[in-house]
Amino acid sequence: MTDVLTHALAMRIVEEDVSFRTRMLETAAGLDDVIALGRGDPDFHTPPHIVEAAKRALDQNQHHYTHPAGLPQLREAIADTLRRDHGLAYNRDEIIVTAGVQESIMLLMLGLVNPSDEVLITSPRFTTYDMAVSMCGGVPVPVPTYEEDDFALMPAAIEARITPRTKALVLVTPNNPTGAVTPPAVIREIAELVKRHNIVLISDEIYAKLIYPGSEHLSAATLPGMKERTITLNGFSKAYAMTGWRVGYLAGPEEFVRMLVEPRHTLSINTNTPAQFAALAALTGPQDAVQAMLEEYSERRSYLMGALSDLGMSYGHPGGAFYIYTNVSSTGLPSPRFCEELLRQGRVMIFPGSMFGDDSDKYVRISYLQPLARIKEAVGRMSEFIGRVG
Ligand SMILES: Cc1ncc(COP(=O)(O)O)c(C=O)c1O
Repeated sequence: MTDVLTHALAMRIVEEDVSFRTRMLETAAGLDDVIALGRGDPDFHTPPHIVEAAKRALDQNQHHYTHPAGLPQLREAIADTLRRDHGLAYNRDEIIVTAGVQESIMLLMLGLVNPSDEVLITSPRFTTYDMAVSMCGGVPVPVPTYEEDDFALMPAAIEARITPRTKALVLVTPNNPTGAVTPPAVIREIAELVKRHNIVLISDEIYAKLIYPGSEHLSAATLPGMKERTITLNGFSKAYAMTGWRVGYLAGPEEFVRMLVEPRHTLSINTNTPAQFAALAALTGPQDAVQAMLEEYSERRSYLMGALSDLGMSYGHPGGAFYIYTNVSSTGLPSPRFCEELLRQGRVMIFPGSMFGDDSDKYVRISYLQPLARIKEAVGRMSEFIGRVG
């Protein structure tokens, strides 16, 4: 970049240190047969009937602009799904379809955050939230969660960080990177707390279809007095193995959502039209592929939980999503070093907690997005590596 342009950069653009990630990817590129348990991208392909719907849309010339909030029939189907699956009462005019939940996050922060506003975020966390809040001039405020609470967000930890500048709380359940499901009783307490302090709740439920036996998901906006102060985020990437299609959505009270339609139009006019038809097929078609993927994830999760315990590595109970957040401190290595050495010596790629805003240097995220046989092979390599360094 020329000096002229670097000097011209707006103040909101801050340099992120991505050297660790780059180093990991470069190391992996130079090795054979790396087992990648790092990214949050399902190893399954999008179910064929969803792919077919996009092809059909193209054949029928459905490749023009749509309403900026999304195809009306898709928004209807989203409203039906939210009602049926989570008991949420939204109508189609309370929904905006975006390029993944990612664009919903940016749109929402543009709509909510004034300079110096503080936004509380479940932590360790999906750090897009930090970036989006900062780019709007706000201040991201992590709310830590702990292994001994199975990484559930705790009301006392939230309350301790509320100031007169607190605008919103981001609740991500199940969470990335911990897989933690915040229990319904705690969600009820959090609801009372946000009402008492008059703050907005952003409820990121992108992993809500991936819940394992023994855990229960509760959508905060179903609770009394909560719809009016909650924006619910959800999408297609995780449950339907549709990461590359880029479809997600936000849902909130109509008067608020209406005000975001123009900003949404400014960002990208509308979500890719054939991808919206694919998303429609995902919701209205058979759900057995989702169930089959969930069963497979469940099997991998059970295996990994047992294997990690056998290796002497503890974790918070992962009630949902497809991640286990594991404590590697028993190995004596700080987690970034653990990940680098495991990759170099054991050819297994996992990510340290530092990539999720956790500076404890104790944890790594393992995403179980490889076939069980490969996960078993990865555990064998990890065991060998730990035996060597331990
Ligand atoms: C908690 C959370 N929210 C949002 C996203 C963004 O998902 P997408 O933009 O693919 O819908 C992710 C992706 O990993 C995530 O983990």
